[in-house]
Amino acid sequence: MAFKAVIFDLDGVLVDTAKYHFIAWQKIASELGISFSKADNEHLKGVSRVKSLELILSWHNKSLSPSEFEAALKRKNEIYLEYIYTLQPNEIMPGVVPFLEELKKLGIPIAVGSASKNAPLILDKLGLTPYFKSIVDGNSVSKAKPDPEVFLVAAQKLETAPEDCLVFEDAQAGIDAAVAGKMTAVAIDPEHQLKNHHAHLVGFEGVSYHSLTQLLSA
Ligand code: BG6
Ligand code: MG
Repeated sequence: MAFKAVIFDLDGVLVDTAKYHFIAWQKIASELGISFSKADNEHLKGVSRVKSLELILSWHNKSLSPSEFEAALKRKNEIYLEYIYTLQPNEIMPGVVPFLEELKKLGIPIAVGSASKNAPLILDKLGLTPYFKSIVDGNSVSKAKPDPEVFLVAAQKLETAPEDCLVFEDAQAGIDAAVAGKMTAVAIDPEHQLKNHHAHLVGFEGVSYHSLTQLLSA
């Protein structure tokens, strides 16, 4: 199977940041006097910051005034950014850099398609920005995954038809978005929890683009 372009989700695919989203939401929840577990956090993967807070509040039948809501969002991001500023290259997911290098050698254009408004900062911090022809993030789209908008915009920026794009995702909302956009979706899913994907990987370690495309055509 030949693809003309590749699109990567960011959090949990390229970088191990899900743990910092979890810590930050847990602090916010505790300040609001509500519980927040690792299992709860799973439901927020791929979900925008605003929608995440709406979900957490809805699970506890809790409401905030518009100004309290804004303050909680701002504080969540401040806590998250404290961790992001200390990001180290070893927090790039294992095998990602060799995989990006392989795509570069093959001349296959790549993009990021992420819900995160912090995507450009994170990629810069880790020196990954030069690999990407385009970064489509939570600042540039209005419809959240599972709507395919973020991936369709990325495909457009890569000047490639959606059918010719391969997408890597670690969230169900992201897999569903890629499939809704008529793209081929590969799940990065060490726990084997995701469904509706075209192929499954525990991570990029030891994975070559060549072997993956063979697996997809089998
Ligand atoms: C997604 C994460 O990539 O980005 C979510 O999986 C996060 O957990 C979302 O809520 C928005 O991120 P940010 O950095 O804009 O708060
Ligand atoms: Mg993700």
